[in-house]
Amino acid sequence: MVVFNTSFYKKARTIKLLAGLMAVSSWAVQADSLSNDIKQLIEDPKALSAGKQTFEMVCAACHAKDLSGGTGFNLKDEEWIHGDKPAEIYHNVFNGFIDQGMPGFGAIYQPQQLKQVVAYVLSNRQGLANLQYRIYPVTTEEKQSDYHLPVNAKPAKSGPVPNNLIDFALPEIQNFVLEFEGTLYTPTDVSRLHATTNYKHRTELFIDGEKVPMDMDHWQKRVWTLKPGKQKFLLRYYRIGQAKNLNKKVNFFVTNESMTQKLYGISVSGKQFLSNATIPLKADQHARLVRKKVVDLPTFSISVGLPKQVNYAFNTRTCSIVGMWTGDFINVGPNVEGRARDGSVILGDWVFKNPQVISPIAETRCRFEQYHVNEKAPEFIFWHDNTKLKMRATGENGNSLTLNYQVISGDLNRLTKWQLPKGDNFNVNVQGGSMNNQALILDKNSQQWQIKISKKAN
Ligand code: HEC
Repeated sequence: MVVFNTSFYKKARTIKLLAGLMAVSSWAVQADSLSNDIKQLIEDPKALSAGKQTFEMVCAACHAKDLSGGTGFNLKDEEWIHGDKPAEIYHNVFNGFIDQGMPGFGAIYQPQQLKQVVAYVLSNRQGLANLQYRIYPVTTEEKQSDYHLPVNAKPAKSGPVPNNLIDFALPEIQNFVLEFEGTLYTPTDVSRLHATTNYKHRTELFIDGEKVPMDMDHWQKRVWTLKPGKQKFLLRYYRIGQAKNLNKKVNFFVTNESMTQKLYGISVSGKQFLSNATIPLKADQHARLVRKKVVDLPTFSISVGLPKQVNYAFNTRTCSIVGMWTGDFINVGPNVEGRARDGSVILGDWVFKNPQVISPIAETRCRFEQYHVNEKAPEFIFWHDNTKLKMRATGENGNSLTLNYQVISGDLNRLTKWQLPKGDNFNVNVQGGSMNNQALILDKNSQQWQIKISKKAN
């Protein structure tokens, strides 16, 4: 998967495309019923899973499996160059953009299948849509905390925000109340909105018409909890009675509920800030090791990306294998604080992960000694009780991981039974031991053994 920001490219093409969009208004009536069909499918889990399957089979190659874009545009952000109405998206997929490198799918798929794909794309939507702004000039000397915006206040300036990103460069005056109103989509279950800035300006959030209490109200950071899915969004930002520099950089971005993963920006600087902080790491020629917290893995895990699109994690507190994934390696960041606080995100697909682990069944004292990289694959040296072991793993063609264990000193004693991961999507094979009830059984005098995890073909 390629992860990079296509939005610049998108903007550059907008002007050229406006002319094209005008020509398509003749199907407006049909378009309404088509849009309604697709909107219904967004609520239908079966249609979405069918759409997902088609998407992953044919669209993901260019748009990435998580829709974040590659050679094709990002399909979940707030920017739609060719139209964001369900019917417009349908027609775009139907006809494709031959000159830009996207084939048309109208001749290949049934209308129902195309509708399902479009519904799936729309169900992943994130960020703001139909965003409007309103600027109310304020002349009062009141403190911003005391100020009430009159119910019938008239904005001095208002209008649509074309790129659907909250933009603090809009007001050209010093003292104002600024409102942004639109529809917010959050594809995850529960997420949180963060605002980080250098100045503390009073900020209020209303979701579906109700004021949302702040979860956190620190000097440079405010946090609110969002609802899942589609919601009405209204943000009110007060800048009153302060002569300091006008602060145009307020980073609004959304994280997961536990705030370990930054998901997407919804303000101009918030978006910028996240894309700068995101660094996809790939293991191309050589293995790569990352000692950073990975979302979904226990702390103190070292992630290893092997050149053959197979990755795993070794935990240095338990001396066990705590996860395996195929595909690309890891995205370090997004990391706002600059202190490596946030979890990294894996880029591929999990085969198994903690609490599924590979480790001795008996509770042992683990002591991790070191790793070193040897011929494209790292070796881990560690102790379980008084037994010193070495483990070196190699990958094969994006589907299997082979773990080679070797006893360096001591005997296996309490280490003859090992826990192996279980799952429907992979097979486990062992050499140098036997398998019993999903456990690896070794001989007390075993010197080396091999565990191979292979993903089943779908
Ligand atoms: C071979 C690569 C490729 C494949 C496969 C592909 N696309 Fe695209 N897609 C692109 C490119 C490139 C663009 C940008 C077109 C442009 O430059 O205007 C695009 C644009 C789009 C857009 C317009 C986005 C916008 O901002 O308005 C949509 C929607 C879209 N693709 C959906 C799909 C879907 C759904 C599929 C699978 C059925 C698919 N694409 C398969 C390459 C591809």
